[in-house]
Amino acid sequence: MSEANTPRIVPLVDQRHSPLALPPAALEASRRMVPVGAVLDQLDRPLRDLRISVTDRCNFRCNYCMPKEVFDKDYAYLPHASLLSFEEITRLAQTFVAHGVRKIRLTGGEPLLRKNVEALVGQLAALRTVDGQSLDLTLTTNGSLLARKAKSLRAAGLQRITVSLDGLDDAVFRSMNDVDFPVSDVLDGIEAARRAGFGPTREGGVGGLKINMVVKRGTNEHEILPMARHFRGSGIVLRFIEYMDVGATNGWRMDEVMPSAEVIELIQAHLPLVQLDPSAPGETAERWGYADADGRHDASAGEIGVISSVTQAFCGDCNRARLSTEGKLYLCLFASNGYDLRALLRSGASDADLASTLGHIWQGRNDRYSDLRSALGPDTSGAGRRVEMSYIGG
Ligand code: GTP
Ligand code: 5AD
Ligand code: SF4
Ligand code: SF4
Repeated sequence: MSEANTPRIVPLVDQRHSPLALPPAALEASRRMVPVGAVLDQLDRPLRDLRISVTDRCNFRCNYCMPKEVFDKDYAYLPHASLLSFEEITRLAQTFVAHGVRKIRLTGGEPLLRKNVEALVGQLAALRTVDGQSLDLTLTTNGSLLARKAKSLRAAGLQRITVSLDGLDDAVFRSMNDVDFPVSDVLDGIEAARRAGFGPTREGGVGGLKINMVVKRGTNEHEILPMARHFRGSGIVLRFIEYMDVGATNGWRMDEVMPSAEVIELIQAHLPLVQLDPSAPGETAERWGYADADGRHDASAGEIGVISSVTQAFCGDCNRARLSTEGKLYLCLFASNGYDLRALLRSGASDADLASTLGHIWQGRNDRYSDLRSALGPDTSGAGRRVEMSYIGG
């Protein structure tokens, strides 16, 4: 079925305005103690990764994320006063870091649309982990503004960038972003990022550049090999992502998911691969390296990754929290509701209140949506409740 004919589910209820109640135990306890340090959730998962959405707007309309039919000119984006300010974001981020967060990713929507986002990068770059290290500070972008912004982001202290790129063929790319945006501008953005120092990871883990490609069967699977060939040997890690049933508007269907195993098989037939060990616990991607003639990893050719949240869920050690544009904390990409941290902040909460509340929320967490979907099969019936990825961030 073509993109244009794909059936859509339009949300009837705006879930953004129904926050979860903050746990009473957290509020009460916050008056007594300041739990700082690592916290584990109900499934013994630590808190390590915070994704912060800085805007719910985007200049692209990727069909799998912000379909035009829903995100049209009448769509009610958040008013400016609803957004967390940079100071509020930094204050919350500090609380997360005190609880063990080591990686912060800025997302959107398209984060480079947020005015002067470099200033926020600068504030976050100054934070230190509990053991005094710099954060792994990164950002996901569609690349459209990167040629203009790469240098200033780097100067502000951003360490890594991930660019979403769903194909190299201009016609395919234009139809996937659905705003007729040319692929050459994104490639220029990637080049600018490389020149600004976001090249291959160097000593100290500084400067990584990754590409994320969502694979939709029937739409862009013929771009897999050209993409692999293009980035092989470039020092840039390309990751293939299974198209997910996230949000409530993309009309997701299982037959449009291309399992990662098939992606690997396809590449392997032309460019031999060897599986690599994970570089960190709780990682989203399974790593594969290009092989040399002896079947060993050829480091100069680099590696690719596959992210298989549909066919091989990775909830078991999911250490990711998500902060929405208006300051709600979501414990899972597939959650329907978030905890309203902005209300707490704006009520004059002390640092101790914030720390205690976050600790209690994380300790109560038992989300594992993708695991359950794999066990029970996909729920294609009533998906009309989940928040959109453009609102909580990828
Ligand atoms: P690196 O730190 O660079 O390895 O990034 P990452 O893989 O942790 O984050 P990124 O935002 O690049 O994730 C890539 C894609 O994986 C996202 O766009 C989502 O499609 C998917 N993804 C990321 N986190 C989760 C998650 O917690 N659950 C599920 N189901 N999918 C996720
Ligand atoms: N499935 C998988 N990944 C998605 N993203 C957005 N929507 C989906 C989806 N339905 C991710 C992509 C994109 C990033 C901004 O969000 O990785 O690059
Ligand atoms: Fe925008 Fe990224 Fe969503 Fe595409 S996937 S609409 S670029 S936020
Ligand atoms: Fe984590 Fe939820 Fe994704 Fe599972 S589905 S990996 S719990 S965000």
